[in-house]
Amino acid sequence: MRIPMIAGNWKMNTTVAEAVALVKEMRPELDRIDNVDKVICPPFVSLAAVKELIKGSSIKLGAQNLYFEEKGAYTGEISPLMLAELCQLVIIGHSERRQYFNETVELVDKKVQAALQVGLKPILCIGETLKENESGKTEAVLTNQLSSTSSQAYSTGLTLAYEPIWAIGTGRAATGEQANQTIGFIRHHISKQHGQEIAQAVRILYGGSVTAENIAEFIKQPEVDGALVGGASLKASQFLSIVKQTSSIKRGK
Ligand code: PGA
Repeated sequence: MRIPMIAGNWKMNTTVAEAVALVKEMRPELDRIDNVDKVICPPFVSLAAVKELIKGSSIKLGAQNLYFEEKGAYTGEISPLMLAELCQLVIIGHSERRQYFNETVELVDKKVQAALQVGLKPILCIGETLKENESGKTEAVLTNQLSSTSSQAYSTGLTLAYEPIWAIGTGRAATGEQANQTIGFIRHHISKQHGQEIAQAVRILYGGSVTAENIAEFIKQPEVDGALVGGASLKASQFLSIVKQTSSIKRGK
C-alpha cells in the first residue's frame, strides 16, 4: 500500500515571520491527521525556523531546490549537505526551474543523485507544456524526463509529481480522469523499465491548481497518490482541508 502524500510548495512566498505564522496556525490540526505524509516546503530562509516549530510533530519538511555539489565556490547555491541538516525532502526539477532557470534533464538527474546521497528524499517533478499536450507529445516528454531516473532512485524513496505545466497556477486543473490516465501511463512506463515491484511502490502525485474544492476528484483516482499543492498551500484552511480529505478518501471513507 502506498501512503498518500500532500506536499505544500510555497514557492517564493512568505517572509520568515509569515512562514512562522502560517506554520503556527496549521501545526496542531495538521499533526493530528494520519494516513497521509504531510510535507511543507517553505523558502530556504525559513527552513531553520520551521524545523523548530514542527519538532516532535508528524509534519515533514522539504526544500524547493538544491545544487548538486557538496560544497565550494558556487556563490548563492545551497548544497545537499546543508539541507540534510534541516529537512527530509526536496522538490527537484519543478517546471518553473526547468523553464526560468534552464534546468535540463541531465542537471535535474544530478540533483536527484546528490539528494539521495545525503539521504534527502526527492520529489521529482515532470510534466508537459500545453503545446506538447495538444500535439500529442505528452508521453514522449514524460518518458524523456524520466530517462535518467534509476531503479535505485525509485527504491530509495523518490516520489514523482506529475504536473502538467498548463495546469500550474492557471486555475485550469486537469480532470481527475486525465490525471489518473497519465499517472497510469507513467507507472506502466516505470514498470517496463524497472519492473513491476518498483512501479507499484513509487508514489506519484498530481500537481496543478489543486484546491480544497477539487482535491477529492484527484484523490479518489486509484493511480493518484496525493498532490503537490502550490497556491492553496499558503492558506491554512485550504491546506488542512486538502490533507483531511485525502486521509479519509484514501482510507475508503
Ligand atoms: P499551483 O502550483 O497549485 O499553484 O498550481 C502547483 C505547483 O507548481 O507545484
